[in-house]
Amino acid sequence: MQKLLDLISEKVGEAFAAEGYDSELGRSSVSSRPDLCEFQCNGAMAGARQYHKAPFMIADAVAARLGADEESIFESAESVKPGFLNLKLKKSFLASYLVKMSRDEKFGLQIPEKEKTIIIDYGGPNVAKPLHVGHLRSAVIGEALKRMGRYCGDKVIGDIHLGDWGLQMGLVITELRHRYPELVYFDDNYTGEYPEEAPFTVSDLEEIYPTASRKSKEDEEYYKEAMENTHLLQEKKRGFYALWQKIIDVSVADLKKNYRNLDVDFELWNGEASVNDIIPGMVDKMKAEGHAHESNGALVVDVAEDSDPKEIPPCIILKSDGAALYTTTDLATILDREDKFDPDEILYVTDKRQELHFVQVFRAAHICGLVRPETELRHVGFGTVNGKDGKPFKTRDGGIMRLETLISDINDEMLAKIKTNPDIPSDEAETTARQVAMAALKYGDLSNQASKDYIFDMEKFCSFEGDTGPYILYTMVRIKSILGKYMEQTGKDKAALKELEVRGAQSAAEKNLQMSLARFSEIMRNAWDECAPHKLCAYIYELSNCFNSFYHETRIMPEENEEKRNGWIALLVLTLGILEASTGALGFSAPEKM
Ligand code: ARG
Repeated sequence: MQKLLDLISEKVGEAFAAEGYDSELGRSSVSSRPDLCEFQCNGAMAGARQYHKAPFMIADAVAARLGADEESIFESAESVKPGFLNLKLKKSFLASYLVKMSRDEKFGLQIPEKEKTIIIDYGGPNVAKPLHVGHLRSAVIGEALKRMGRYCGDKVIGDIHLGDWGLQMGLVITELRHRYPELVYFDDNYTGEYPEEAPFTVSDLEEIYPTASRKSKEDEEYYKEAMENTHLLQEKKRGFYALWQKIIDVSVADLKKNYRNLDVDFELWNGEASVNDIIPGMVDKMKAEGHAHESNGALVVDVAEDSDPKEIPPCIILKSDGAALYTTTDLATILDREDKFDPDEILYVTDKRQELHFVQVFRAAHICGLVRPETELRHVGFGTVNGKDGKPFKTRDGGIMRLETLISDINDEMLAKIKTNPDIPSDEAETTARQVAMAALKYGDLSNQASKDYIFDMEKFCSFEGDTGPYILYTMVRIKSILGKYMEQTGKDKAALKELEVRGAQSAAEKNLQMSLARFSEIMRNAWDECAPHKLCAYIYELSNCFNSFYHETRIMPEENEEKRNGWIALLVLTLGILEASTGALGFSAPEKM
């Protein structure tokens, strides 16, 4: 289905053309003065310059033509000095548009004929280090983008890109060796199979890594040993590599559990290590083709461009000791993805402080021909999660806030709220609370423009009123409850409800709601194109407000005129459908009661 705004623009464009002007001038937008009109077109202003005419003359002619059209989709089209066109839609047209939307599985959203293949690189946790609040955003934003992309008809693959190959692995191995030198992994003469079971648990690891990290900062010898062990691991020294595999197994099992708690999942669990073997070949090729050259002992690719306002330093491929870096694994990963998936786009969701890194990597990837020239590499950088003091969010005693703690805190807060509702059986309270808490957490994050910092305000996020996840869910639950009553009273089932048709709006509030619904496909498409989940959040907030205003002034169930009531029920079904599609794309859902 054509987007509402495109349809309006097309109709206004036809009127421009019929008056002898460029039809492009008909581009219309949602009114910035909703008290005056619903849509506006400023094309006559632009046309005035093009045709050397007073803008109102053009606007007058177009308005008159639109007004004279019997079949017009507009109830009114007014020319307003100096040359604006103020437009209002016919109620019957709007209703018929919504009926068509209701009949469409995706509510009128057009699916491109050729799907794009897009890889989203998000999550990015580092093995053996616990997830903290900083990992929340990557997971939540990345998952939302993945689901939005899929809804819009693209093939989207999520890759967690584990940090599993750097110094932190060498540190853990070093510390294990100090503690348990007798382990078979450290016996160079051992040739047998290594034990099935890991010699540590995830909680051991969580203590081992910080200890090792601290020691390496205090003790030069220890640091050197860790560097050496990292190097040996990267050369796949047998015992180290087997031990490393155990660290990965234990960590990944724990990570999976944590991400599941956030309803986040990945198609690919690759990491930096998975591309280790293709680095040498890639580097040789870069050298042979003259893209990489030596500079102060290191191997680099120059990525600066004349138009750079700030100098972009060369991208380092190998350090002077020959070691690969974060950049190197990212480049090799691009090569690997190109090889396996031939993606049209790769999106990276990380902290925005990594921006320079990605500028260098993306440029180097294109310069070295690791991807097709038209492959889009895009960084979605996000801001910091702050506490109420405006500083990075910490625990009460100033420590790093673990993601697990944060999730359980918000679950507890929500459970206390849900328990005050006597309608919810106590055995359901916990599940419901978790579902609503997830919406609170995710919406609290996603409703902010990703690149901006935001304040983690548990009380605000959990509130059932205002611009929050629970408010959106509350609206959905309200609709479900009315529909439930309606089905009970009429004996109709869900399928029968879908057959009902939206009718022409009978009040301003109803028309507002209808207009908001009609914009769904435009908003969803745009939010995905711009990688901007906050735009979808802003939309469902507005839609919920429109619904609640309509609900408060309309007595739906007591209405005796059956046609009227059925029209409203159809409107509710559509509103719920669109809210479900949107929240689903954002990564959360509504319970039956809350
Ligand atoms: N592990 C990295 C970190 O903690 C994030 C990885 C992001 N993805 C990437 N392809 N570089 O900073």
